[in-house]
Amino acid sequence: MSRILVVDDEEGIRSFVAECLQTEGHAVVQAATGDEAIVLARAESFDLVITDLRMPGISGLEVLRILRDEQPEVEVILLTAHGAVSDAVEAMRQGAFDFVQKPVSSPGELRLLAERALERRTLKRIVEHTRRDQTRTPLSYGAPSMVAVEDALGKVAVTDATVLLVGESGTGKEVAARAVHEMSPRAKGAFVVVNCATLSENLLESELFGHEKGAFTGATSRKRGRIELAQGGTFFLDEIGEMKLELQAKLLRVIEERVFERVGGTRTIEADVRWIAATNRNLREQIKKGHFREDLYHRIAVFPVEMPPLRERREDILPLSETLLNQIRIDLKRPNLRLTSHASEQLRQAYWSGNVRELRNALERAAILSDGEIIDVAQFSLEPAHSSDADAEDDCQTLQELEQRAIIRALSAAQGSRKVAAAQLGIGLRTLYDKLKRYGID
Ligand SMILES: Nc1ncnc2c1ncn2[C@@H]1O[C@H](COP(=O)(O)OP(=O)(O)OP(=O)(O)O)[C@@H](O)[C@H]1O
Ligand SMILES: [Mg+2]
Repeated sequence: MSRILVVDDEEGIRSFVAECLQTEGHAVVQAATGDEAIVLARAESFDLVITDLRMPGISGLEVLRILRDEQPEVEVILLTAHGAVSDAVEAMRQGAFDFVQKPVSSPGELRLLAERALERRTLKRIVEHTRRDQTRTPLSYGAPSMVAVEDALGKVAVTDATVLLVGESGTGKEVAARAVHEMSPRAKGAFVVVNCATLSENLLESELFGHEKGAFTGATSRKRGRIELAQGGTFFLDEIGEMKLELQAKLLRVIEERVFERVGGTRTIEADVRWIAATNRNLREQIKKGHFREDLYHRIAVFPVEMPPLRERREDILPLSETLLNQIRIDLKRPNLRLTSHASEQLRQAYWSGNVRELRNALERAAILSDGEIIDVAQFSLEPAHSSDADAEDDCQTLQELEQRAIIRALSAAQGSRKVAAAQLGIGLRTLYDKLKRYGID
């Protein structure tokens, strides 16, 4: 079943066209003006729009232009009066699928045309999907701590469990969330993001749940919320630690009971979405301060995954730089850009407080600054590794203290896996156990 919008100011034509397509099993929505059509198209997603050309208010041609601009994947068929073929030709030039002359006498012809347009829509979707597949960012580049993360994400992806991604800014939480979506049975559905930090509380509520016409000043028409747009797909709540308490209560109910209402609405709508949340805050601390609901925390922390900071997975820095540099080569159209070994070494040793995002920015800036195709140390101005690593180590008096610290760091980077930590430290598992016992590390 496809979703089709039929737009015509003449009621008779509208319902004739709608009926023709409904009998084919499609869901058809009608609009009497171009303005109404645009509002509807923005609120719900249609596969095909069939619109009259000449209407009071905005014309069919303008509807076509706006849709081409905002939703290029939607197919548009135009209805034209006899003798207005030159308009129709112009419409085809602007990307309409085809046109039908009025009066529409043959339902069969109309259905056939609609089916062909819908076929093209499906093809576009498949192409888009494969393209996304090919450009999927690998998460891990060999660092043991990231291999563990990728493994965990792959396992949870096939379930519908809520995932909580925790990690410093720029560690790739959004990249990880998209990867979970892509690996999940919901991959064909939408991946919808809401950043809880950037929207005001009122806006956030109507963004999430949508609103009915007249729900508040400015609500001039009904709007579907992001949760509705994510039906069948994945919903990513970014920076969930910033969400206000009142809204947390409402979110809790959606996650728990899988239902919600639009703002100002009474109809209960089912929420068929998979939840992924991310934060760079310590939510337990937020709970203690009374800023985060404990019950919501337990709902979203079903499967917590920690994204390690870049400085704790230095093995990733060079291969990751190569991936990022590849993107930059394409963006800047400079296919021969490369790093000197000196520059690479400096990248490997820098502190990266801004993690992968900072690495990407540094590479991009350096690429722009470099005159030739070779990026050298001079083009970077990096925070050296010792600025904080060494601060922490300054108060270590003895070799044993340094060793203890290294072990603790490796364990936390490996999320407690002794095997991974031992590999990272370059010692045997047996040795690691001995040292843990000797130092009383739990
Ligand atoms: N594994 C990766 N491969 C390639 N690029 C990556 C990878 N991880 C992160 N990046 C890039 O680093 C940048 C930051 O990633 P992302 O937005 O996912 O981080 P974040 O953890 O959500 O950060 P914040 O908490 O600030 O929102 C993006 O440009 C992203 O494309
Ligand atoms: Mg993010």
